[in-house]
Amino acid sequence: MDNSIATRSRIKFWFLFFLLFVFWYLLVYRVDWFPLSTSRHQVNSAVSLGSDSINETNLHGEDVSVIPHANDVIKHDEKSVYNISSADNDTIEDLEGLQKELEPLLQPQDDERNLGKGLDRKEVDFCKGRYVYVHDLPSRFNDDLLKQCKSLNKWSDMCHYFENDGLGSRLGNPQRLFLGSGWFETHQFSLEVIFHNRIKQYECLTNDSSKAAAIFVPYYSGLDIARFLWDQYNVSVKDSDSRDLVKWLRGKPEWSVMGGKDHFLVAGRITWDFRRAFDEDSGWGNKLMFLPESQNMTMLTIESSPWHRNDFAIPYPTYFHPSNDNEVIQWQNKMRRQKRHALFCFAGAPRPNMEDSIRSEIMEQCNALRRKCRLLECKNDKNKCMKPVHVMKLFQNSIFCLQPSGDSFTRRSTFDSILAGCIPVFFSPGSAYVQYLWHLPKDYTTYSVLIPEDDVKQKKSNIDKILSQIPAKNISAMREEVIKLIPKVIYNDPRSRLKKFQDAFDLTIKGVIDRVETLRKEVREGRNSSTDFDEESSWKYYTFGKTGVHEWDNFFRRTDRY
Ligand SMILES: *[C@@H]1O[C@H](CO)[C@@H](O)[C@H](O)[C@H]1NC(C)=O
Ligand SMILES: *[C@@H]1O[C@H](CO)[C@@H](O)[C@H](O)[C@H]1NC(C)=O
Ligand SMILES: *[C@@H]1O[C@H](CO)[C@@H](O)[C@H](O)[C@H]1NC(C)=O
Ligand SMILES: *[C@@H]1O[C@H](CO)[C@@H](O)[C@H](O)[C@H]1NC(C)=O
Ligand SMILES: *[C@@H]1O[C@H](CO)[C@@H](O)[C@H](O)[C@H]1NC(C)=O
Ligand SMILES: *[C@@H]1O[C@H](CO)[C@@H](O)[C@H](O)[C@H]1NC(C)=O
Ligand SMILES: *[C@@H]1O[C@H](CO)[C@@H](O)[C@H](O)[C@H]1NC(C)=O
Ligand SMILES: *[C@@H]1O[C@H](CO)[C@@H](O)[C@H](O)[C@H]1NC(C)=O
Repeated sequence: MDNSIATRSRIKFWFLFFLLFVFWYLLVYRVDWFPLSTSRHQVNSAVSLGSDSINETNLHGEDVSVIPHANDVIKHDEKSVYNISSADNDTIEDLEGLQKELEPLLQPQDDERNLGKGLDRKEVDFCKGRYVYVHDLPSRFNDDLLKQCKSLNKWSDMCHYFENDGLGSRLGNPQRLFLGSGWFETHQFSLEVIFHNRIKQYECLTNDSSKAAAIFVPYYSGLDIARFLWDQYNVSVKDSDSRDLVKWLRGKPEWSVMGGKDHFLVAGRITWDFRRAFDEDSGWGNKLMFLPESQNMTMLTIESSPWHRNDFAIPYPTYFHPSNDNEVIQWQNKMRRQKRHALFCFAGAPRPNMEDSIRSEIMEQCNALRRKCRLLECKNDKNKCMKPVHVMKLFQNSIFCLQPSGDSFTRRSTFDSILAGCIPVFFSPGSAYVQYLWHLPKDYTTYSVLIPEDDVKQKKSNIDKILSQIPAKNISAMREEVIKLIPKVIYNDPRSRLKKFQDAFDLTIKGVIDRVETLRKEVREGRNSSTDFDEESSWKYYTFGKTGVHEWDNFFRRTDRY
């Protein structure tokens, strides 16, 4: 009798102890819903409780926190369970049962950074479902193009843009505008090279294509077509490499598994350079995106077509390519502290030949305001506008950055402005909201402002008035959101790996793998989602999951430009 009471109270004691432990554990490790500063504070104060794992975590630097090290966590709870269960046999069952129930809570967050390493103990393959196979293409499709860097572009020698694994030459830190390292003179069309070098370091590569969740095709399609965009080249020259590429792919055993639906490639120029509408030599670009094989592949590009289902937009590369977490945090904090003297700014050139363009209207409104709006005109002073120093200085000094469409919907400038903590102002949802679905928040009002371009053109909208009326509270909230987006829209230095942040590459791989998984399921079930929606409504289907009438429809009426 006494004995059983004693046992029971012991059980209760250990049970309570365990609950307290779980509570403490959640407090310390599951704090990622707090802002960074709070969680850091929590971890630091927890150190005084004394624990190996905290000690170890803390060794990684002061900025432990948002994502726990999976390694530490596992070690930690194995130990405590062992310690507790060795006390009493009766309690073992209870505690084991309890632990099983709590397991989902105790599991570390899906930390991509740590999944590849160190968890073999549990004999779980954390790369499972994440393996990527990279096709070993003949060098004419990639490396040989880099060797032609002097002649790739009609106007300029591209060679220095390919230094540092495609990041470009180092910028240093002129006027202390940047950081001591991590800044490069990156070309806006270098993504193919950066992405390829980055994927070479991906933690879940495989040489066994049957294990692969997705298959990467490292073809430098943008560098290929850039050679033939200007001057007179006939269509067979323009299309030659893309046609040879898909022929090569189709000849590989990997293609037949899903008809190429698990393949993806990166086209580092806008989609319109690969969608020549007619087969005359005067037609712009090549037909890469229209080839039958390309209908099955996932084509990643810096600007996708709202009216086609096979391309998906991912961020333009910016000038910042950090090689550790600390550089990201340092930069975010710098942008938080930044004094901003202009309400808004615009860097760009007018488009006098484009009837639809609102750029001259924007420039007029800006010029009329003097100091409230700053203008960096690219027309006469091309050099200045191309220099990262001038652009970044302007954006860092402004609260809002205007991002009107140019020759096409999107601009690299959008990502430069996010990088500078400058809230982007869009004039069409085509400039970002229906584009970067894997990288930007669904609720665009949290990080940006939309002023419909028709209103500007018809002089119904006064940009200054609209922006001036936004309360200071909203501005700070939006800016914080923009600053939080920085790690998600930049590409880390391919030669190193960040521990804590998922960058644009990581989010892209995740997006591709999810998509291929969906397609694989469809193939298995004999379905065809291509029939679910009219291709013309792709933008709506991909953004909202449905295709009914939408208030944005008038932004996506086809013009003779497309
Ligand atoms: C915690 O780390 C410090 C050095 O960082 C070390 O001196 C100390 O022994 C560690 N404590 C434990 C409990 O491991
Ligand atoms: C129990 O935990 C204590 C401190 O956490 C440790 O020193 C001890 O070795 C553990 N006992 C066992 C059996 O693991
Ligand atoms: C505790 O349980 C183990 C097996 O789980 C058993 O071998 C051992 O005899 C038990 N000890 C006591 C004191 O009941
Ligand atoms: C794949 O094979 C190549 C060449 O044999 C080798 O260098 C590379 O390390 C292998 N990669 C993996 C992930 O096994
Ligand atoms: C296209 O141009 C290439 C090189 O200028 C030439 O060799 C080829 O015959 C041309 N093809 C056609 C169909 O005109
Ligand atoms: C595209 O995939 C389907 C099946 O998934 C296949 O029947 C078709 O042949 C593929 N297209 C090409 C060009 O390989
Ligand atoms: C400011 O933010 C509040 C919510 O935080 C929102 O309801 C309001 O519409 C915003 N005002 C403007 C002008 O954006
Ligand atoms: C899926 O449907 C589209 C549109 O109807 C069609 O073009 C394509 O060939 C179909 N694919 C398969 C594998 O049935």
